[in-house]
Amino acid sequence: MRILFPTIIHDMVAPNFDQDLCINLSRQFKKEDPKGVEKSNIGGWQSDFLDFKKDDYFSDLISNTISNYFYETKIYKEIQLMLHGYWININQPGASNNMHNHPNCDLAGVMWIKTDNKSGAIRFRHPNIFAEQTSIGLYDEDFANKNGAHVGYWMETKPGECILFPSHLEHWVEQNKSTEDRISISFNIGLR
Ligand SMILES: [Fe+2]
Repeated sequence: MRILFPTIIHDMVAPNFDQDLCINLSRQFKKEDPKGVEKSNIGGWQSDFLDFKKDDYFSDLISNTISNYFYETKIYKEIQLMLHGYWININQPGASNNMHNHPNCDLAGVMWIKTDNKSGAIRFRHPNIFAEQTSIGLYDEDFANKNGAHVGYWMETKPGECILFPSHLEHWVEQNKSTEDRISISFNIGLR
């Protein structure tokens, strides 16, 4: 047996993650633009698309986290990262995000700032679910877990954790059932 054409989700931790600072900064963005934008957010606040800039805290945090990960794992050939932009999500209790993908980039990412075990998982669905729902959905559980052969997949999220995934991969965020806000930063990157 061989497994071909995997969907790879990169998982890393932000170095020197300062949760309090990140929460305060996120809330500051919301204060400056309380309306935000309406995209995949249902009930939550989402900032406008923010450009990556020099000496901007979130830009540096995201780019250092990713560069560090690629440098340490050496999983890519020599690449150039193009950081397109990021946005902040604050989902108050009850809020969620509809299924979406991230067009016009290569990899999509999320970094979690504030979550707990009730604030809602991120869920992904198989990129070819229409064609493979049955042939993948019927695999034995052990085999499926060992080989990532699922029709859907969900992840617990921890503050300071960051993931990267192919931008076409459809995903959504469950309803926040915590009594506290769920805060994350999403971003788009290109590779060359
Ligand atoms: Fe997303």
